[in-house]
Amino acid sequence: MTVPIAIIGAGIAGLSAAQALQKAGQPVHVFDKGRGSGGRMASKHSEAGSLDLGAQYFTARDRRFVEQVQQWVANGWVEQWKPQLYNSRDGQLTPSPDEQTRWVGIPRMSAITRGLLKDVTVNFGCRIAEVFRGKQYWHLQDTEGCSHGPFSRVVIAVPAPQATQLLAATPKLAAVAAGVQMDPTWAVALGFETLLQTPMQGCFVQDSALDWLARNRSKPGRDSPLDTWVLHATADWSKQHIDLAKDEVIEQLCGEFAELIGCVVPAPSFALAHRWLYARPAVNHEWGVLADADQGLYACGDWCLSGRVEGAWLSGQEAARRLLEHLE
Ligand code: FAD
Ligand code: NAI
Repeated sequence: MTVPIAIIGAGIAGLSAAQALQKAGQPVHVFDKGRGSGGRMASKHSEAGSLDLGAQYFTARDRRFVEQVQQWVANGWVEQWKPQLYNSRDGQLTPSPDEQTRWVGIPRMSAITRGLLKDVTVNFGCRIAEVFRGKQYWHLQDTEGCSHGPFSRVVIAVPAPQATQLLAATPKLAAVAAGVQMDPTWAVALGFETLLQTPMQGCFVQDSALDWLARNRSKPGRDSPLDTWVLHATADWSKQHIDLAKDEVIEQLCGEFAELIGCVVPAPSFALAHRWLYARPAVNHEWGVLADADQGLYACGDWCLSGRVEGAWLSGQEAARRLLEHLE
């Protein structure tokens, strides 16, 4: 029997690698500390329906990703989102239509990673604390003290600060990951009983604590009894308010929202806040993947390319390509 490859992280990068490796006939075993797949592309189930709190939509520019997205569309996992876009600068709100094609998972963002999980062996609720090598093979130790293995190779598909510790067996790669700064994002979801009197469905914001607003229910396939909105704070505001209580975050960002949206905003009947500690790499890189092919240890994720869904998916593909190349 072929010894499987371990993949740590069931976000889009890890599952992109998993799919490519399985397609090449390599068995994989995926581990994720979360209760489900998706990572920063996950959706939250709530009384206001499912909410995309992380990735809002994605664009496809690289030919390989464009082709992949077409396949996801054919699978029924993805549809185009055509929001009425606005731009807010210095408190001035202006319509900002453009020609960019934007994609979302349906009926929620996590539909894509959920689809990719088909036929993949996965352990959820399993946080890996250590990756170590025995005589011949790799083993993983989780935070409960259980060990998993043997594995022929390991692909680490988690944000850079979390990858650093898992890369301890290859100090060179660990040092590269340790040098990557990832910025946080505070996200707030608000639900209103009555429709807000604005045609806005998405808004890029400058000169505010807010960075982005989206009318979640304007995306295809979302069913919400409420007029639900997702607000993202800027990286700067999020850093400055990193330890603020969630109630306070909601109050402050809801206040900013009411100020800039240009219509009456009643008290929301639903509100939640979520802190993404490692939301995005502060700068893009062009590594594709970090690899110690002789040892069989690989690290991938958005932080190896661009801090976007496309970058994460491409990095997962690159990890699989490098790994398979070394098998030949
Ligand atoms: P992740 O999605 O972070 O996946 C890593 C996985 O590893 C997670 O599931 C995590 O639970 C797991 N994990 C971590 N440590 C361990 C461990 N020790 N053991 C086991 N499992 C572990 N991109 C866009 O293209 N468009 C957008 O509009 C957009 N908006 C965004 C808004 C926000 C608020 C955020 C946070 C991100 C946004 N992004 C957007 C970026 C996009 O979501 C990411 O680039 C992409 O999802 C990253 O995928 P990944 O697989 O590299 O990492
Ligand atoms: P994109 O092409 O829609 O947007 C890229 C950037 O161009 C936007 O951030 C915005 O500044 C500008 N822009 C695009 N269309 C605009 C319009 N019609 N009017 C005014 N400005 C416009 O998408 P892309 O390149 O795929 O980027 C993904 C998005 O995800 C970006 O908005 C990025 O900021 C966001 N993101 C947010 C993260 C977070 O943690 N909050 C993490 C990673 C990405």
